Amino acid sequence: MIKVLVPLVKSSNFTFVGQRTSTAGIYNFNNKFYTTNTNTSPIGSVASTVPRNRKVIVVTSGKGGVGKTTTSASIAFGLAQKGFKTCVIDFDIGLRNLDIHFGMERRIVFDFINLINNDCKLNQALVKDRRNPNLFLLAASQTKDKTALKMDGVERVLEELRDNFDYIVCDSPAGIESGSHHAMFWSDIAIITTNPELSSLRDSDTMLGIIASKSKRALENKEPVDVSLLITRYSPERVASGGMLSVKDIQENLGIKLLGIIPESSDILDCTNLGKPTITLDDNSDAAEAYRDTIDRFLGENVPFRFLEPKPTGILSKLMSKFK
Ligand SMILES: Nc1ncnc2c1ncn2[C@@H]1O[C@H](COP(=O)(O)OP(=O)(O)O)[C@@H](O)[C@H]1O
Ligand SMILES: [Mg+2]
Repeated sequence: MIKVLVPLVKSSNFTFVGQRTSTAGIYNFNNKFYTTNTNTSPIGSVASTVPRNRKVIVVTSGKGGVGKTTTSASIAFGLAQKGFKTCVIDFDIGLRNLDIHFGMERRIVFDFINLINNDCKLNQALVKDRRNPNLFLLAASQTKDKTALKMDGVERVLEELRDNFDYIVCDSPAGIESGSHHAMFWSDIAIITTNPELSSLRDSDTMLGIIASKSKRALENKEPVDVSLLITRYSPERVASGGMLSVKDIQENLGIKLLGIIPESSDILDCTNLGKPTITLDDNSDAAEAYRDTIDRFLGENVPFRFLEPKPTGILSKLMSKFK
C-alpha cells in the first residue's frame, strides 16, 4: 500500500513529537513532521481553535471530597457539548469512580494502566459516551499499586491524546501522592476546586504552590500553568449567617481568577446515582446552570456570576421570584 505523507503544522510546542515518532503514525523527517494519514484519529478530527500548548486541564484541590470528580464530569461533558473532542481521565488509581458519573461502569474493558503498559491501543481503552459523541472516558485502574503510573508511560499516553483531542480533562485524586502529582505535572490549565471552608482553602493554596514550582511548565521555565478557581458547594444562606466563607474571602485568600461558583445542591447526588453529569440537567437546576456558565467563561465569554444571594424563604417571595 502506498502511504501519502502529509505535512503537519509544526508548532514551537511540539517538543515531545521527536520522542514518540513510532506512535500515532507520525514521522519526523528533516525536522518536519509527517503523518501517513490525513486523519490519524480513530476518534475523529480535532478543532483548530484550541492552542496545542493549552490542552491538558487538571481539576485538582489537595483536599478530598470537595467536588473534583463531579466537576471533571461536567466540565468534560460541557466542552464536548460545545463541539470539542474531549477525553476525561480518571487519575484516581485504585479508587476509580468517574465512570459512575457517566453511567459507564459496566463498559470498561481496558484502563489507563493497560494503556500505559501497552496492553491495548488507545481506541480500545477509550469509552465513548452514548449521549455525546465528542466525549470519551479513560478509566482508572483498580490496581492497588500506587507506582503503576510511570512518568514515560503517562507522557506517551497524553501525547497521543493531544493528537486526537481538543481537550484532555484530568480528574485528580486527593492528596499529593502519585496520581495527583501526575495529573498536576502535565497540566497546561488547572482548575482549583475549593469549598468555602478554611481547611479546603489551605489545601488549595498548597496545591497552587506545587503547581507553580513542580509542574512540567515550571521545571522547563515555560509560561506558567493557567490557574483559576472554582468554588463548589457554595451556600449563600450559610454565608449570610456567618457559617461559611464568602466568595470575596476566598478570592482574597487565594488571589487567583474566579472561573465558577457552583451552589450546594441536592441535584448532584441524584445525578451521580443516575450516571449523568450535573450539567446535563435542565435550567431548573442552579448547579447545572452554574456549570454551563463556567464552561462559557472557560471559553472566553464574559458571564456574570449567579446564585450568590440567599433564596427567598416566604411563600409570597417564592411566588414572586417565579414571575421575575
Ligand atoms: N455542588 C454540590 N452540592 C452538593 N453536593 C456536592 C456538590 N459537589 C459535590 N458534592 C458532593 O460531594 C461529595 C464529593 O464529591 P466528589 O466530586 O466525589 O469530590 P472529590 O472528587 O473532590 O473527592 C459527593 O458526595 C458529591 O455528591
Ligand atoms: Mg474524586
